[in-house]
Amino acid sequence: MARKSKPKNSPASRAKQPFNKGFSTISVHAGEDRLRYADSITTPIVQTSTFAFKDSREIEAYTKHGKERFEYGRYGGPTEQVAERRLAALVNAEDCVVFGSGMSAITTTILALVKSRDHIVITDDAYKKTLEFCSSYLQRFGVACSIVPFGDYEAIEKAIRPNTRFIFSESPTNPYLNIFDLERLLEIAKKHKVLTMIDATFGTPYNQRPLEWGVDLELHSCTKYLGGHNDILAGAVLGRSELVQEIRALHKAIGGVIDPHCCYLLLRGLKTFPLRMKAHNETAMAVARYLEKHPRIRRVYYPGLESHPHHGIAQRQMTGFGGVVTFDLKGTLKTAKRFLDSLKLCYIAPSLGGVETLITHPATVSYYDYTRKERYALGITDTLIRLAVGVEDKEDIIADLDQALRKSASA
Ligand SMILES: Cc1ncc(COP(=O)(O)O)c(C=O)c1O
Repeated sequence: MARKSKPKNSPASRAKQPFNKGFSTISVHAGEDRLRYADSITTPIVQTSTFAFKDSREIEAYTKHGKERFEYGRYGGPTEQVAERRLAALVNAEDCVVFGSGMSAITTTILALVKSRDHIVITDDAYKKTLEFCSSYLQRFGVACSIVPFGDYEAIEKAIRPNTRFIFSESPTNPYLNIFDLERLLEIAKKHKVLTMIDATFGTPYNQRPLEWGVDLELHSCTKYLGGHNDILAGAVLGRSELVQEIRALHKAIGGVIDPHCCYLLLRGLKTFPLRMKAHNETAMAVARYLEKHPRIRRVYYPGLESHPHHGIAQRQMTGFGGVVTFDLKGTLKTAKRFLDSLKLCYIAPSLGGVETLITHPATVSYYDYTRKERYALGITDTLIRLAVGVEDKEDIIADLDQALRKSASA
């Protein structure tokens, strides 16, 4: 536990100021002072690892009398502060901490909330590295973890013990874009007085608002849609001040910080976030409908399609369905490889949420070290493809998929 007696008051630890404007205005302006260094329109990159005190009086004003200022880079700086305030405003959260990656946000948040002999519940569809962290690394510190099947709300409730600290899940999930019913989650969590955390990376604050449904903490890999340009790694946790402060305190010790230049790129990406999301949602829907009708496709998974098992929940909980479309090709591993090798516009790369369309083949990328039997048990077939649409013209993306599908037919 961080010492509570110290009155040092870094501005980065203040809760958000309300910014009552529309979503696009928030994306461009929230968190900034109106007048900035040298009258710059953009947020300055304050590229420094430490901050000078004018004199010993100022040290005392800061350490003893709570003067708000910055002290040392790991505890936050002006550019990071703007990013935290802007994200908090976008998500409508009391407070936010930004991190050097999504995984840093997830692991620091979890570590801040558990102690030895606690227990946590996580759904089996969570991001592979999050599952690995919870099921193996946490156990070393005496924290037990139950992995429960996604969507099995009875199993989730049964897994709760008197020492359960929180339920962690994701929505939508990777790669099948399953949607967690937040109403059911919150009913269980309230009944048993446990915290809830949702990794909402795939959903984004444009399409879904877990905190507004009553979830305690919302996490994002800002590497994806929030940054939006496939050029940074960043993460964030958002929620009530009292919870976020505990996480911020540990973050200062663990030190998985984001650097000011990266924060600037995140802020720049956020300015076009609603425009990009509108394009991602529309293009993904068009691509999903195109693929659903294609004779070389066995099945398409997109929550916006009526055929998706969680389409009803998605309609209730989301205002858009995101930019990821997963599909299963007819054929064999050879067909999938031939399809990938024939693409001319879409890049073969993991990740999602950027302006470039990326496509990945879970069987040979994320699950390359699993046996075929293990992969199939998790639903990762030889022919499963995850497409993360960018903001190129939808006709060009579809044309690229179309020509690659035609070529793959000869494999
Ligand atoms: C759902 C989800 N959560 C968290 C992460 C980790 O984020 P990062 O790569 O920024 O550490 C990822 C990465 O792909 C992800 O897909």
